[in-house]
Amino acid sequence: MCGIIGYVGNKEAYPVLLQGLHRLEYRGYDSAGVALIQDDIINIHKRQGKVSELEEYCIDRDISGHTGIAHTRWATHGEPNDVNAHPHFSSDKKMALIHNGIIENYQLLKTELINRGHEFASETDTEVLVHLVDDIKRNENVELAEAVRLALTQVVGTYAIIVISVEDPHTLVVARKGSPLIIGFGQNEFYVASDGSAIVEYTDKVVYLNDEEIAILTEGDDIHVKTIKNKVIPHYVETLEMSLNQLEKSGYEHFMLKEIFEQPRSIADSMRGRLNSAKEIVSLGGIIEYENHLLNARRIIIVACGTSYHAGLVAEYMLEDLVRIPVEVEYASEFRYRNPIIYSDDVVIAISQSGETADTLAAVELAKQKGATVLGICNVVGSSIARATHAGSYTHAGPEIGVASTKAFTAQVTVLTLMALCLAKRKGKIAKQKYTHIIHELENIPKRVEEIFKLDTHIKEIASYIKNFNNALYLGRNYNYPVALEGALKLKEISYIHAEGYPAAEMKHGPIALIDEDMPVVVIATIKGTYDKVVSNIQEVKSRKGKIISIVTEGDTVVKGLSDYIIEIPETEEMFVPLLATIPLQLLAYHVAIMRGKNVDQPRNLAKSVTVE
Ligand code: G6P
Repeated sequence: MCGIIGYVGNKEAYPVLLQGLHRLEYRGYDSAGVALIQDDIINIHKRQGKVSELEEYCIDRDISGHTGIAHTRWATHGEPNDVNAHPHFSSDKKMALIHNGIIENYQLLKTELINRGHEFASETDTEVLVHLVDDIKRNENVELAEAVRLALTQVVGTYAIIVISVEDPHTLVVARKGSPLIIGFGQNEFYVASDGSAIVEYTDKVVYLNDEEIAILTEGDDIHVKTIKNKVIPHYVETLEMSLNQLEKSGYEHFMLKEIFEQPRSIADSMRGRLNSAKEIVSLGGIIEYENHLLNARRIIIVACGTSYHAGLVAEYMLEDLVRIPVEVEYASEFRYRNPIIYSDDVVIAISQSGETADTLAAVELAKQKGATVLGICNVVGSSIARATHAGSYTHAGPEIGVASTKAFTAQVTVLTLMALCLAKRKGKIAKQKYTHIIHELENIPKRVEEIFKLDTHIKEIASYIKNFNNALYLGRNYNYPVALEGALKLKEISYIHAEGYPAAEMKHGPIALIDEDMPVVVIATIKGTYDKVVSNIQEVKSRKGKIISIVTEGDTVVKGLSDYIIEIPETEEMFVPLLATIPLQLLAYHVAIMRGKNVDQPRNLAKSVTVE
């Protein structure tokens, strides 16, 4: 939620900031703004709407300056408008600040500051920060960085901030707690951003700031890092593992489409070096040290949000089936607030594409406090969850930019499958023949995904049928239940058609009342497992005039006879059906959204990285 970027050096700052905002726009896109220091004034330009609207607005404005900050917003406190957009000014307009996070005690601080004569322009929680820093700076007569540090000791909440002041025109003061922040090093210059995508074209030398740390970045000087408690600490320069072409659309019309079509590669990358089918070895280097904790775990508790939660549900079926360890899957936002019972011999696995989701991060901290072993499955290298967990495995899907998660899901399921296979083998819970068969089948999944892409034109036809409805129901059982949830989530988040995912058998306990000729029902009805039961559920829908779109195994005739439309996917092991069946549902949602004229990469009200709870 919200993207921040800053630059100090000898380049013109505006082009760097603007390009960075475009790259960070997936984090929020309801307003954007930029502040630039020019001699002894700060020019702020900000606009409701997307970054392109800010860009247009700035065409005939003064955008010169070598020090600047910029922000793209996902509104929390205060509606999206020009005034609430960041950056925010101090009263004398000599200082400006941008912020990603939430200041929970802002009301209290605001009242005190108003009593001391500060005037507020916006309804945001952020604006208190700049007034507070300014107030401390004047009253305590301290340097900017010290004023920021003292201000942050009074703040309750989360933040990644960048502050600039005309009194230190060649300095950025940055700090973080609970929201991501990365610092890049150039030639006598610094770049700061919410993530590496905004700075990768300038540098790959970076420092990830830790929670409750402040950095002072002055052109031509070294970086200085200290804690909020005023302890000077060393910094570690790391190499940013990201390439620029991963951040481009590469000829696709949308990032989402590109990311859907990248899945054969991203699934293969998630297996690379971990699955050796010739030697029949599966190993996850990142968690090898904790394999015994997993094998001896009383329970495995998976915490995640959104699509990552659905990957967790798939893992629950796999881990219980293959490893015979009890698994619970929880929405991180519920888990963290319900006083959960966590034993020290539980293993908690946090799944997160961004590695920054606030609720998942809080669940990780809670589980750590209670003494559990906590592992992470993250996509973004160096992200907060990746660093907060005891160990973990990266999914290696590459940057995912479309707000609706696609390739991250299949990469998460792939890594969790590898985990289940390693554990099952070590635990002796899997027959040799089954193990051999499964790993060869897993290796073939990328090829099978390629085959599904040949159905794109057919899926488009189905999309043109679905696009006119207001509701849709997605049904599946067993491994296909999470697929139904994920399919429904994709449709609702990008096309705004109301869609529900349901376990097929539960339909008769409520949703069946909704079924009539205006209700398309998407059923994942692949051969094996509960196939016959699902066929009965399809009959129940059909006899109530529901329209049936089925995902079936190639060659199926029974379900085909009952369906209005079918999508045939290659036959595979039951546990791998989610890796295949999700793909046509992603494409279906994509085409429906396009046909309805929606912005698939930036759906309304959503953001990719949910760093507020
Ligand atoms: C947001 C995104 C979803 C994502 C969820 C969890 O809602 O729009 O696509 O699944 O957050 O994000 P995470 O980064 O933790 O996987």
